Amino acid sequence: MNTSSHIALVTGGARGIGAAICRALADCGHRVVVTDIAAQGASALAKEIGGESVAMDVTSANSVSQASEQIAREIGAPTIVVNNAGWDNLMPFLETDEEFQNKVIAINYTGPVRVCRAFLPGMIAAGGGRIINIASDAGRIGSALEAIYSGTKGGLIAFSKTLAREFARNQITVNCVCPGITNTPLIKEITANNELAGRGIAAIERNVPLGRMGQPEDIAGAVVYLASEAASYVTGQTLSVSGGISMAG
Ligand SMILES: NC(=O)c1ccc[n+]([C@@H]2O[C@H](COP(=O)([O-])OP(=O)(O)OC[C@H]3O[C@@H](n4cnc5c(N)ncnc54)[C@H](O)[C@@H]3O)[C@@H](O)[C@H]2O)c1
Repeated sequence: MNTSSHIALVTGGARGIGAAICRALADCGHRVVVTDIAAQGASALAKEIGGESVAMDVTSANSVSQASEQIAREIGAPTIVVNNAGWDNLMPFLETDEEFQNKVIAINYTGPVRVCRAFLPGMIAAGGGRIINIASDAGRIGSALEAIYSGTKGGLIAFSKTLAREFARNQITVNCVCPGITNTPLIKEITANNELAGRGIAAIERNVPLGRMGQPEDIAGAVVYLASEAASYVTGQTLSVSGGISMAG
């Protein structure tokens, strides 16, 4: 990590927090690879920021392996990897069924595990790197109506700390950013037809000490820091970007 420009891969980069991360990393001079299951959105954003785009569904082993081979062949080894793709819908735990549970686990937990497994060897060969996993405050402190999601994000935090220990010797740092409620298309979709979720999210928003909902750019700022030279001695950490709604003890 001793040059200023890196190949930076972002999952779920087509919209929301991922798109803001892609724009911010491109602004830092990195060559950004926008990956997403939504290939058209990824390609449009890549054009806008002068980066590359590759279709990649993090829930599919084949898709991740094909994308990683294509990236290695056509672009090079990413030394910054941001696991941002994620999904949820809010509902009481007893209303969740196995299909929903498996989908949440596949996108939010197995996906990042698969992506780390695919891109860590390239980082090791390059002599270092940064993995930044977008978890959630739900994974630190729990969140009503998000039992499965909270479990996946808590798992992602523990997984990240373990990778941080295992790959420190390779000069690879692994950290988590935990957004609070952030204004993205996902939040709009969750609240559109779900009154209970809408009320819950509005209540959280009213209680944010800094007095507003987070914006995708707020999260991107933390990612830029963790990807920067300034953070080269920071690993295994979990940074909440939530306007103060949760504060680490
Ligand atoms: N918005 C919030 O309030 C909030 C709060 C805490 C954590 N987060 C986390 O931030 C991250 C981004 O969330 P967002 O609100 O921007 O969501 P979003 O739905 O607006 O954007 C997510 C992107 O991920 C992509 N994606 C979904 N499934 C995918 C898959 N299988 N493979 C590849 N890409 C896939 C989508 O196409 C989309 O472009 C997620 O990990 C989410 O859990 C969001």
